[in-house]
Amino acid sequence: MEFQIHNPLDMHIHFRDEEMKDLVAPLTSWTFSGALVMPNLVPPVMNLEDLKAYKKRIEAVTSQDNFTPYMTVFFHEGLTREVLEEIKDYVTTIKLYPAWITTNSEWGVTSILSDTNKKIFADMQDLGIMLSIHGETGDFVMDREANFMPNYELIAKEFPRLKIVMEHITTREAAQTLDKYPNLYATITLQHLEITLDDVAGWALKPHLFCKPIAKRDEDRDALLELALSGHPKVSFGSDSAPHPQHAKECCGCAAGVFTAPIALQVLTEIFEKNEKLENLQKFVSTNAISIYGLTPNTKTIELEKKEFQVPEKYGNVVPYKAGETIAWSIKTIS
Ligand code: DOR
Ligand code: ZN
Repeated sequence: MEFQIHNPLDMHIHFRDEEMKDLVAPLTSWTFSGALVMPNLVPPVMNLEDLKAYKKRIEAVTSQDNFTPYMTVFFHEGLTREVLEEIKDYVTTIKLYPAWITTNSEWGVTSILSDTNKKIFADMQDLGIMLSIHGETGDFVMDREANFMPNYELIAKEFPRLKIVMEHITTREAAQTLDKYPNLYATITLQHLEITLDDVAGWALKPHLFCKPIAKRDEDRDALLELALSGHPKVSFGSDSAPHPQHAKECCGCAAGVFTAPIALQVLTEIFEKNEKLENLQKFVSTNAISIYGLTPNTKTIELEKKEFQVPEKYGNVVPYKAGETIAWSIKTIS
């Protein structure tokens, strides 16, 4: 059995920088037409100069592939109207992190709905710049995303022409909030379609499944699956593939992030096939994103075949999702 995906897009990826970027960026550019690159470097991508330099460094290791890095800038209080006008044509979204909520978010915002931030939202709305948000509060870990929902609702209501993406949603509450506002959208990762907190910590602790937001309950996973499998037009695939070196995961103080990039399309195909919804996979991994973000992706066709593939134990010094396991689909050709 074979299956083709055209112009796949990953609308949430962490490429990092230097050797880690050199290792992981080609593993995405190989199979995807484009990916939305997160700005949480140390220090983050804050302005046009940072963005252009980072984009060049990514292109230097992905130019062998037909691939576009779609760039983001880190949301901060210095985003004046002038700065936004300057970056408008170079960014696909601006990414807002609440301070201290996840990896390298210490430069994030402390008060989401401050007057300064509202002025930035208003300017972004005027200029047609999209806003991506890591939607978690600092509350009890299982409640963080659900408790963030009122912030999404307030921003969506007050700025009805601002397109807001709820990044990597993990809860039924987020799935239910999505359709309340026409300007709210969402991305969903691969791991959150498969795992729950039980897989992470129900028996032996699995550091390579630990990410932010943490995987939740069965009913949450099922709500996300339903959205993805239905090809819901406001939802796109965003892997949130977040590599960390093995020593930073297998230690006391495990870094958050699951590295899924090299097997994302294969496992998505397996999930959609198992659920008899292969006809909606193209929407989830490409056409929805094209219309939400207004993209014109590179032309690329991935032919997958139903042939077992053993996931490597490591890519460089990074342990991937499903390391050592056998998955049902393989990449056959890329053209
Ligand atoms: O698990 C995560 N890892 N969640 C994030 O929001 C950030 C990411 C990272 O950069 O490692
Ligand atoms: Zn992320």
